[in-house]
Amino acid sequence: MAEKRVAIVTGGAQGIGLAIVRQLSQEGAAVVIGDVQQAKAQAAADQVAAAGGQAIAVAVDVSREQDVAALMEQSLAAYGQIDVLINNAGIVQTGPVTAITESAWEKVMQINVKGVFLTCRAVLPLMMARRQGWILNMASVAGKRGGGLLGNSCYAASKGAVIAFTKSLAREAAPHGIIVNALTPALTDTQMTSGLSDEQRQAILGQIPLKRAAKAEEVAAAACFLVSDQASFIVGEIMDVDGGLMMD
Ligand SMILES: NC(=O)c1ccc[n+]([C@@H]2O[C@H](COP(=O)([O-])OP(=O)(O)OC[C@H]3O[C@@H](n4cnc5c(N)ncnc54)[C@H](O)[C@@H]3O)[C@@H](O)[C@H]2O)c1
Repeated sequence: MAEKRVAIVTGGAQGIGLAIVRQLSQEGAAVVIGDVQQAKAQAAADQVAAAGGQAIAVAVDVSREQDVAALMEQSLAAYGQIDVLINNAGIVQTGPVTAITESAWEKVMQINVKGVFLTCRAVLPLMMARRQGWILNMASVAGKRGGGLLGNSCYAASKGAVIAFTKSLAREAAPHGIIVNALTPALTDTQMTSGLSDEQRQAILGQIPLKRAAKAEEVAAAACFLVSDQASFIVGEIMDVDGGLMMD
């Protein structure tokens, strides 16, 4: 990054989010780690500081409006501006449609979809006032092709909504100088996917030309590219990080 930027990363306490936090920090950004897991988020911020970077941890449930408002306030109090928002927080729900409860459906939609809307709505006026900003939403290949072998229709529906929201917001925000994109990773080795059986994992990998899962760092590299000056003319892109899965 050419200048010092301030980046909020939701769900930054572990997995893909933590890899993004580390890379952004290495590139010189001051990072706000927003996560429901307060202790883990604080440990991540401490790690960044120990490595010579700048980070704070903020306890936030992205599906709660007041938490999101507090996330913005604490970011501004710490660093005075917000340049980058990476909506990475998310949860997964697996199982056939007949087994999904109403409350499970609602929880996934609240966090994966409403959470993205709430953070974007809160940050936009700040970015518009400065005519500058980068927003990156974490979707999934499931949002493009539907749920896979695990029957994760609810998760896929939430990520499909994130894709449509990203494209809409990209059109709305671009005239204000704000760049909005999304990433669609395939299977990535994190806690979210650690519960897969060997059989499930092999079945998924069988569909991926590279025949392996992504490392969190590989997804983070694409995320950091899309919020960098190198991607200054990329708008409304829904970028696959998928080892070739979505290739025509
Ligand atoms: N791992 C994969 O295979 C994969 C593939 C495609 C997309 N994704 C997406 O990437 C993102 C990160 O996934 P991951 O694999 O690192 O998962 P993960 O479960 O390891 O990490 C998710 C993080 O989000 C946080 N979080 C959950 N609910 C939250 C809430 N309400 N408010 C704030 N923080 C919350 C968790 O505490 C955790 O730190 C998710 O949006 C996920 O859907 C993951």
